[in-house]
Amino acid sequence: MAGLIQKIEQYHGIRTLLEAELEAVSTIFRRQLASDLPAVNDLCRHVARYQGKMLRPTLTLLCGLAARADDAEWTTAVGDSHRVLAAVTEIIHMATLVHDDVLDESELRRNAATVNHLRGNETAVLLGDYLISNAFHLCSSLGRPDINRRIGATTNELCAGELLQIHHREDWSIDEATYFAIIERKTASLISLCCRLGAEEAGAAPEVAEALGAYGRLLGIAFQIQDDLLDLVGEERVVGKSLGRDLEKGKLTLPMIHFFSRVDATERLEMLEHLAQPNGTVQPLRISALLLASGAVRSARATASSLVEQARDQLSLVPPSAAQQLLDDLACAVITREF
Ligand code: FPP
Ligand code: MG
Repeated sequence: MAGLIQKIEQYHGIRTLLEAELEAVSTIFRRQLASDLPAVNDLCRHVARYQGKMLRPTLTLLCGLAARADDAEWTTAVGDSHRVLAAVTEIIHMATLVHDDVLDESELRRNAATVNHLRGNETAVLLGDYLISNAFHLCSSLGRPDINRRIGATTNELCAGELLQIHHREDWSIDEATYFAIIERKTASLISLCCRLGAEEAGAAPEVAEALGAYGRLLGIAFQIQDDLLDLVGEERVVGKSLGRDLEKGKLTLPMIHFFSRVDATERLEMLEHLAQPNGTVQPLRISALLLASGAVRSARATASSLVEQARDQLSLVPPSAAQQLLDDLACAVITREF
């Protein structure tokens, strides 16, 4: 009973601590991007609106707490370097979103206008550059070239994933292995690094840091599958961003790959005819109906769900604690989210 009470107290303690830490991360984020030029500040304030779940900072902090939660001093597991790293990863994420919206010609993100829609592509490209440059400028303040290099290697991966994706544009026979190679790089690489660095900075044992890195990778892949499902069968009003962009941009994602692997020649032809429609005339409702009827949506959801289970399995290698429980809750939320 005493153990249970202690666990509940730690659970609430960690939630409260996390809220305060995320506030501190937001302050670092804002200070880093602040400029003496109102023209720049206005854009950065707009981008700050895209911060929603703060998934990457949350994982950086929570993995630090999980790495030390069995230790009486767990409240001091998260320090300045965690806060800076959490802000760095959030700024990198914002940079990728601003550039991604240019590539996808999206108009809406987090229920607000995208920068490209508001100010045009040139401003959006430059703002993305300003953000990525600031991320590395902030990271350098840690005086840790090893961390700078690892983050640089991850942003390289991220860009390579996007390049692989564009290389397969309108490749209607793209296979699952290529799809996974793309999303592992463009999404899971940064999420995994957040978990691993968060754990390492708290002094985690190597096997714990490795397990948390693997947890982040699996969770990141599941997160992107859910994102791709929402793009095809979600509701724009609920999701808060432009949907249907993947097909408009010739990107085939997991539900569509599963569709082609399970339908007969007639359904295949019908779908290919839809996909061949010129930009702006693709019929999302008909396409999502075909995907749903074929069982492809269900099967992509099952893949995401199995990845979440694998991510949760990695947590068995982490000392049991309330922080570990929160990481488990977070893994489950990744595929039940509707935005
Ligand atoms: C989401 O795609 C996109 C990413 C996770 C990565 C985007 C990366 C770049 C554009 C490369 C630029 C890189 C740097 C370092 C500035 P999505 O279209 O599936 O997601 P969405 O549904 O949120 O639009
Ligand atoms: Mg996009």
